[in-house]
Amino acid sequence: MGINIAIDGPAGAGKSTIARAAATKLGFIYVDTGALYRSIGLYCLEKGIETTDETAVSDVLSDINVELRYIDNIQKVLLNGKDVSEDIRKPECSMAASNVSAIPRVRAFLLDLQQKMAKENNVIMDGRDIGTVILPNAEVKIFLTASPEERANRRYKELVEKGNNPDYNELLAEINQRDYNDMHRKTAPLKQADDAILFDTTTLDKESVVEELLSIISSKLGDK
Ligand code: DC
Repeated sequence: MGINIAIDGPAGAGKSTIARAAATKLGFIYVDTGALYRSIGLYCLEKGIETTDETAVSDVLSDINVELRYIDNIQKVLLNGKDVSEDIRKPECSMAASNVSAIPRVRAFLLDLQQKMAKENNVIMDGRDIGTVILPNAEVKIFLTASPEERANRRYKELVEKGNNPDYNELLAEINQRDYNDMHRKTAPLKQADDAILFDTTTLDKESVVEELLSIISSKLGDK
């Protein structure tokens, strides 16, 4: 049995950056579960399947094989044997992932893979339902959040640094739409687990967040 740390929270709260940095310090594997939903979203986009069409998406799951590999501790996602780690970051995959993630059969399809990773390894796993559904017995559960405006602002700066010319209001609208989708779906909606620690990072920089997170983790693991 591995030690399991669950980090949930809305899109753009910085979960992946923070969880990756903390995992490196702890020597744990960082599992980004959003990548799994993104792979299914990508598959549907490539095949021209409407990502909100529950029947059509459910019907193609038997043609899909998703695997996670770790090379120098960096997660690679293989979709039917092909490395799609870069492709799934395309902006259109964000909404496609959010859409397919609302489909119960998609969630059931990805459940075993996530639970197996956590059973066999010490993991920091980030997502939306890790503390509530996937790893209800995780040793540490954190709900990481920040205001929608701050999340849009961080995304804005990230895109500008990459040489893009984003529209702040569009980014904010997309964040609000994804929050709404993720929190209102019937199956495994985004919500804070009863025993999760709420961590609001709105006014903190990345270094302070990682430091605080490591201190929460070590005091929680020390209690066990
Ligand atoms: O974390 P992310 O932005 O890469 O996730 C993409 C979408 O996948 C997100 O809008 C909701 C969904 N998701 C989910 O439903 N459950 C998870 N454990 C991870 C992601």
